[in-house]
Amino acid sequence: MKPRAEGEEKAAAPAACVWGMLLACAGQSPMVSSTTLRTQGRWKISSNSSGSKVGSCRRYITLSLYSVLFSIHMLSGAKAAAHIIAQLVSPKQPLSRAIPRLSSHPFSRFNLNLVKRAMSASAAAKRLEGKTIVITGASSGIGKSCAFEFARTSPKNLKLILTARRIDTLKEVAAEIQKEVGDGVKVLPVQLDVSKPEEVRQFVPKLPEEFRDIHVLVNNAGLVKGLARAPEIAEEDMNTMFNTNVTGLINMTQAILPIFKSRRKEEGGAGDVINVGSIAGREPYAGGSIYCATKAAVRSFSDSLRKETVDSRIRVIEIDPGQVETEFSVVRFYGDAEKAKKVYEGVEPLTPDDIAEVVVFAASRRENVVIADTLVFPSHQVSLLPTSF
Ligand SMILES: NC(=O)c1ccc[n+]([C@@H]2O[C@H](COP(=O)([O-])OP(=O)(O)OC[C@H]3O[C@@H](n4cnc5c(N)ncnc54)[C@H](OP(=O)(O)O)[C@@H]3O)[C@@H](O)[C@H]2O)c1
Repeated sequence: MKPRAEGEEKAAAPAACVWGMLLACAGQSPMVSSTTLRTQGRWKISSNSSGSKVGSCRRYITLSLYSVLFSIHMLSGAKAAAHIIAQLVSPKQPLSRAIPRLSSHPFSRFNLNLVKRAMSASAAAKRLEGKTIVITGASSGIGKSCAFEFARTSPKNLKLILTARRIDTLKEVAAEIQKEVGDGVKVLPVQLDVSKPEEVRQFVPKLPEEFRDIHVLVNNAGLVKGLARAPEIAEEDMNTMFNTNVTGLINMTQAILPIFKSRRKEEGGAGDVINVGSIAGREPYAGGSIYCATKAAVRSFSDSLRKETVDSRIRVIEIDPGQVETEFSVVRFYGDAEKAKKVYEGVEPLTPDDIAEVVVFAASRRENVVIADTLVFPSHQVSLLPTSF
């Protein structure tokens, strides 16, 4: 064990009193929201002190976390515990991203394991454990964030299949995830153009056996091209948007559904289809007719599929983002980054992580809970703005 510095030794007695007070308080009102811990790795103290089972559970989690930090204090010194607390309460630094920073401390391995264990004990982590998740469009934006969020939420035993056209970028994403969460998450990058039906048909048969038992499909790949109005819409753009956003999404769903249907046949099957739609599917706007039509199609397809699978444990979930800053606008303006930047001037858009948290939240509910339909805005938005989304 690392010998304590002189200053730390002196600080030990008052610090022990503080710990005592914290432990005593844990049985009272302060509680850690497991949802917040699950999705962001930060503390949230709630004033709810009801005597419900949830309340007791949260109090238990709080007590456990205090105990973990207390143990770190006793074994590694006040500095290490203070460092972890600082990371936990930092509003800008989610715990999951703070963990690698602890590696410089001599007791890093010990500390890391404790904190990781505290995080993965959440209900969400347990529900996702052992699952295989496919994400389309994982090379950038929302899809890439989803990959990280799933891995951080359930880092012990998860398989991720990341797909997109840019295979080199996918390999980089896979390596970053592996570096951050370790070997508990197996990541398979697969080059796949969802707009090509033949590639989608070959997708499942070409997967290694250990990745074929898919539980969650995140249909996220999608794009917008231009702002042209009829009759000047380029046929190529029209086909690209429909073939990716609609036919691609439907083909992917049809490729994976047989796997869901063959699972727990007595209950009609089990698995999650999570479709990323858009506010554009609800509110068509001038200059976005094709993109809006594709997202309206996603909405209709999702609603029909939910009805078609109602006698099963298959959940059909649609998440419609408002304005999110990603490569989306760069693609819309054919690579013109300057023009894309202007879309977000003077506003604070959502980040892709904001949507990823909703996706992972939906996928990690109790099996009987279906977050069927979600519209997510940044606070400045209540409707569709021109030239966006
Ligand atoms: N950003 C927003 O404001 C916003 C708002 C509402 C909804 N959305 C929706 O959110 C989803 C994700 O978009 P994003 O904002 O994260 O944009 P993004 O950063 O441009 O990401 C789009 C992803 O889709 C992939 N993709 C595009 N065409 C593909 C194809 N034919 N086959 C396979 N993958 C393909 C891209 O990868 P490759 O280029 O490597 O193939 C990329 O990974 C889209 O469905 C979009 O419509 C976005």
